[in-house]
Amino acid sequence: MRVTKQELTNLIKNKIHKAGLSEEHAEQVADVLVFADAKGIHSHGAMRVEYYAERIAKGGITADPNFEVEKTGPSSAIFHGDNGAGHVAAKRAMDEAIKIAKESGVAVVGVKKMGHSGALSYFTEYAAKQDLIALSVCQSDPMVVPFGGAEAYYGTNPIAFAVPGKDGKLISFDMATTVQAWGKILHARSKNETIPATWAVDENGEPTTDPHKVKALLPVAGPKGYGLMMMVDVLSGVLLGLPFGNKVSSMYHDLSEGRNLGQLHIVINPAVFTGLDSFKENIAQTMKDLNAIKPAPGFDQVFYPGQNLEFIQKEYEEKGIEIVDDIYEYLVSDVVHNNSYDHQDPFAE
Ligand code: NAI
Repeated sequence: MRVTKQELTNLIKNKIHKAGLSEEHAEQVADVLVFADAKGIHSHGAMRVEYYAERIAKGGITADPNFEVEKTGPSSAIFHGDNGAGHVAAKRAMDEAIKIAKESGVAVVGVKKMGHSGALSYFTEYAAKQDLIALSVCQSDPMVVPFGGAEAYYGTNPIAFAVPGKDGKLISFDMATTVQAWGKILHARSKNETIPATWAVDENGEPTTDPHKVKALLPVAGPKGYGLMMMVDVLSGVLLGLPFGNKVSSMYHDLSEGRNLGQLHIVINPAVFTGLDSFKENIAQTMKDLNAIKPAPGFDQVFYPGQNLEFIQKEYEEKGIEIVDDIYEYLVSDVVHNNSYDHQDPFAE
């Protein structure tokens, strides 16, 4: 079914508030989730609300966190997240990074001890809309086989990168370092759809098309995706003195405990390099160049990264955002959560 952006925002905000977060924090969580749904990134939208609500209600997301900013150098800071909602911590840390980058040209801000923060392009696009280049990486629970391995070690460790072009347009690239984000498999499960055999393996390490049989994910492009997820883990885990690799907490292990996750924002002010106008001009040219490339057979057009989502975003603006019926029914119900996630195997239904 379809809902307006405003209705979806209100429903999510109310549910998260009812679970225990302040209205202000609940609104920020809703904003990040609806950002994702409104672009068709359903893996990180309303589908996650019941999980967050359960974790908040059980104390595994701090309802009233004591956020602190520790300035550690002229261009660096650590944002202490106190296991508050990751969406709120990551947004406030990005505010800090933007402030530093505007003052000193570059900023590296690590978020230490936070909950899951959703679709990372929310944070990078927020900075790019303020004429800055932003890169953000974060840890995620171990569920990916390293290249050549039969056991999970790294998470789906995403990377997001956004840059400003002209007339408010951005290039926004945002990917899990796995062939697909785990949320995409959850989405396939929720719709009872099959998945391509290249996404994941079953309990025997064999490729599977059944989302219900998935026991580990595959890195994108073999050893290269594996290398990227290692890089993300070093920058958002090891660098911040947090648990890393397969010691990163599981999403479903104990919902009464904070996840202690890390995220790193790197923000660069183009004004102190090539100059803002020239940078934006050349990004706009990059977009034009890419759009003018002759399409390969089977393609209508080459998109710049992120442009592919503009069409669904436009459709959703006009006709409403598409939401799975069961998720809508949960959102409009009085239930805070159904006790579905606690102590589950990460690959559980
Ligand atoms: P995806 O595979 O749907 O897209 C990856 C990138 O490729 C996007 O920037 C997209 O715009 C671009 N793209 C796709 N098709 C394109 C085309 N035809 N032309 C040009 N560009 C194209 O994204 P993925 O890997 O499934 O990630 C989904 C979300 O999951 C992201 O927002 C990510 O941040 C989030 N995530 C969050 C995690 C967390 O722990 N917070 C963990 C893993 C993923």
